[in-house]
Amino acid sequence: MALTVIQHPLAAHVLTHLRDKTTKPALFRTLCHQITLLLALEATRDLATEEKEIATPLESVLGRVLARPLVIVPILRAGLGMVEPFLGLFPDVSVGYVGLERDHATAIAHSYYCKLPPLAGRRVLVIDPMLATGGSAVQTLDVVKAAGGADVVLVCIVSAPEGVALLTQRHPEVPIFTAALDRELNAEKYILPGLGDFGDRLYGT
Ligand code: PRP
Ligand code: URA
Repeated sequence: MALTVIQHPLAAHVLTHLRDKTTKPALFRTLCHQITLLLALEATRDLATEEKEIATPLESVLGRVLARPLVIVPILRAGLGMVEPFLGLFPDVSVGYVGLERDHATAIAHSYYCKLPPLAGRRVLVIDPMLATGGSAVQTLDVVKAAGGADVVLVCIVSAPEGVALLTQRHPEVPIFTAALDRELNAEKYILPGLGDFGDRLYGT
């Protein structure tokens, strides 16, 4: 399994302010947007392109365009905060949704929604800001693969070693792109140092 922790001064800057407990939801959403742009660029670095001849105002030139359509699959609810920057970069992207919520006592995620576009032959990016136990990501990858997704990557803002280990065991061929690999989970399965509950901070709940 390939784990890429993005290295960019802006990513470090944004992450620090995301972690800051005094950061309010309006700024938190902006920071989420910014760091997702950086992750999106890194996670799509190897996308296939093909030749396309176009005419500039002066002459013809052989350019390159994206060869295959993209699909993003945000894991609700917190993954919704990462959709807009992907749409800005890739306006033709299709969006599937997987709704999962962790039980507060057990930290096991249960599914409450799933709607996926056709996945075969497309690069599928599963997006979720937090990779903690890895349970939500594993369930989503199970569903995405069962629906025909074969070229799949996972994009997370903050990851825990426990989640990375579970992904390595259950979906070893899925590359992970993240902005931070944190220390560990606490007894309640929250990431340390982490940033708290991403969905709550995104939506002020
Ligand atoms: C958070 C987060 C991930 C999940 C990660 O969602 O957005 O989906 O926890 O934890 P895991 O790796 O241990 O599964 P949560 O279940 O809190 O739901 P929400 O997005 O609706 O807030
Ligand atoms: N989900 C979150 O939002 N934060 C954590 O630290 C773990 C799971």
